[in-house]
Amino acid sequence: MYMARGVAFACVASCAFAAPVHRELLLDSVLDSVGHVAGTANSLVSATAESVATGSSSWLQWGRTDEESEPYVSTYTTDNSSQPKPELLWSEKVMLMDGVGYHEHSHTAKDGYYIGNIPPIKRLGLPSLNLHDASQGVRTHHAAMIAQVTSWPCALAAGGTWDPALVRRWGVALGYEFLAKGVNVALAPGVNVARVARGGRNAEYLGGESAHLASRMAATYIEGMQSTGVRATVKHFGFNNQETNRNYYNARVDERTAFEVYYPPFEAAFKAGVAAVMCAYNLVNGTYACGSKELLTRDLRERLGFDGFVMSDWWAVHGFGYQNAGLDMLLPGNRMLTDGSHDFFSPDNLAKTSEPGVVDTAADRVLAEVLRAVPTCTPPYCGQEMLRARATSDEHVALSRQIATESVALLKNGGRLLPLQSGSRVALVGSACDARNDIDAMLRQWNLANYYTIGGSGRTIPLSPASVAAGLRAAWEKRVEYAGEGPFHLPLDPAPPAVEVVNGDHDDNVDLAVAAMERADVAIVCGATTAAESEDRPSLLLDQSGFIGEVLARATIPTVLVAMTPGAVLLPFAANATAIVHTFLAGQETGHAIADVLLGRENPSGKLPVTIPLSEEQTVLPCQPVEGVHISSVAGLWTQGGGGGYGVHYDCDYTESLHVGYLGLHDEPVGFPFGHGLSYTSFGYEWAEEPPAAFPPGAGGRLELAVRISAEEGPASGGREVVQLYLSFPEGSGEPRRQLKGFVKTESLAPGEGVAVALQLTCRDLSIWSVEETAWVAVPGAFLVEVGSSSRDLRLEATFTLAATVCSSSDSTGPTAPTGTTEGGVADPEE
Ligand code: BGC
Repeated sequence: MYMARGVAFACVASCAFAAPVHRELLLDSVLDSVGHVAGTANSLVSATAESVATGSSSWLQWGRTDEESEPYVSTYTTDNSSQPKPELLWSEKVMLMDGVGYHEHSHTAKDGYYIGNIPPIKRLGLPSLNLHDASQGVRTHHAAMIAQVTSWPCALAAGGTWDPALVRRWGVALGYEFLAKGVNVALAPGVNVARVARGGRNAEYLGGESAHLASRMAATYIEGMQSTGVRATVKHFGFNNQETNRNYYNARVDERTAFEVYYPPFEAAFKAGVAAVMCAYNLVNGTYACGSKELLTRDLRERLGFDGFVMSDWWAVHGFGYQNAGLDMLLPGNRMLTDGSHDFFSPDNLAKTSEPGVVDTAADRVLAEVLRAVPTCTPPYCGQEMLRARATSDEHVALSRQIATESVALLKNGGRLLPLQSGSRVALVGSACDARNDIDAMLRQWNLANYYTIGGSGRTIPLSPASVAAGLRAAWEKRVEYAGEGPFHLPLDPAPPAVEVVNGDHDDNVDLAVAAMERADVAIVCGATTAAESEDRPSLLLDQSGFIGEVLARATIPTVLVAMTPGAVLLPFAANATAIVHTFLAGQETGHAIADVLLGRENPSGKLPVTIPLSEEQTVLPCQPVEGVHISSVAGLWTQGGGGGYGVHYDCDYTESLHVGYLGLHDEPVGFPFGHGLSYTSFGYEWAEEPPAAFPPGAGGRLELAVRISAEEGPASGGREVVQLYLSFPEGSGEPRRQLKGFVKTESLAPGEGVAVALQLTCRDLSIWSVEETAWVAVPGAFLVEVGSSSRDLRLEATFTLAATVCSSSDSTGPTAPTGTTEGGVADPEE
């Protein structure tokens, strides 16, 4: 019999130890069964996997127990939210508040359970909630899932497309992948603003340094995903802006900063109808986020209007009574301490510690989402979906390639080196051009990352991602042969560029690189770095920074630097590179996207959602413990007392307040500014209509700015521009200047074509959060609007005044309005 019950999940969340992954299910046979042949993992084949491939074992009843011999099938089939809500018994209410499916005193889920599980209410025929990660696609917490799901670009790459309509399509595709895998609650999107440039999870967040970008992307992602019946979870609320000591730092943030910088993406998610919020690991102003009434009740519900349910991050509850603060669901819900007393949401404990009405309210919120979620399988009977179903498709792979391609930002293009000219001899330099994808190592370590995928709970391991070298080879297929490892030089084909791969042995060797460059016309030099959950990056450098610096310094031919990163990066050698192409970790299609841009098959249109600084000093570093505070790291997580534990924390002051990321750097030189990204097309900007001199009066008023964008020179196939609107408040408002408040991505424009773009500002855009009035208050006075191609390439400006009486406070609290459309080439028709 197949050893299903011995199969353990890779550890989730904060586990610091290597995940116990059983080898029986490892790759080849399993992948063969879904139509993929793994080229790399032959050593892992086992007799047990054969029974998986043939489906001839008890595997399909994975996790079957003696008590429960038949799978439970919900009588609900689809969205039932319009039906009268069924009456729950008290025992059923508490079932909706406490996760199940994990082994006691451990971090592993039982066989057949998802990363998070809320049991079905069988008496009423209600389905289970099957919760699963999420940031780069369906989390491959089991080896068998690899290649059954798409390894998408990371969320930051999707944000870097500046294309909300594309992100909506991503949300839809993700929704269908989750459904195919039996998941009806996705643990995404992440929308924390990138305060700390080195943040280990910045790649999991949609909007980089901009609350506005995150808000726009979160809204369309959620609308897309939830249209499939999969409920979305916006996370991590709030101020989970670093991974260093994420269970111990106490974010001290002033209210205005919270409302203006960190809350808007969450608010946009609420307006888009997101089902759930995940509260964060850290403390906020002295209280753990998941137990903070100020955060979860006052801010989240009363001030931001959230009406879904709040789930805890995994093991983020450290005391009794968090439900009274506004936490509705504890996850994963298992008991972590041997005396059982810390099963905080057990029926007994909820009965003892809940204020009147709290359990009713929490259960009601979860029930509302149970009724909306599409019923799938019921754990533990999810073997078919979880391990066998193929969720990816050719269409999804194509969409993933499109997102990756649109996220590529061309940072520099000296002498119009790119796209590469046909016939050039190209030396491909650096191990990162053909980066490995060590699946076995990733399966052993839950948060191991590589240059294609982030590490941690958001990881979707690709089977055989396209490296830059593979992308170029595929693009030049049939004309170029791969000659194996080591430096080699292919004979020149007269038509296409030839490719030379240097250091196929992954040993970045400057002398070999220089020798190879001597035989070439152009060098493509690759560099990359990784990021993982539970730790911040040790620096902002590329892993090959020294090598690249030397190679570029010694190059005597034009060079293209290709950088693949999980966020901001230092490029101290940028001046020595002729051209620079940047992308965020971009999943299985990485190399195809980059090759398409290098070769001019695609015209780059990505823009940086983060600043590329000149030095680490220009960025906010992760808060570290002050002297005398002893954080005993993992040991402190699971024991009380001793040298650590949850009583220990240290303050992390958000002293930069509103001046986060690019907003604090306007007066300093930077490497490449926020919003930057070139195209092979040059675009002209002009006002299509005289900009209004005053904000128009009237309830719900908005100011419209009409801009005409014309493609000047460029490829006949056209190019897309992201038109950005930056707003500066009247003097004395205390606001950072030049805040991104609107953008539109045009459709593709061929030379000679143009489009009128409408950018809009609402009263809310002209408002600040008033702590005195606990409300958004519009600032009367003269505003400066600048429109351009990046935060530092501003082509048009206008001023307008806002009279004191024009915006009422209801205008200022209303939903954030769409901020841009185009005429004759609508950029985001559904917005
Ligand atoms: C992460 C969450 C994730 C959860 C479940 C936690 O470690 O912070 O983002 O959804 O684990 O895997």
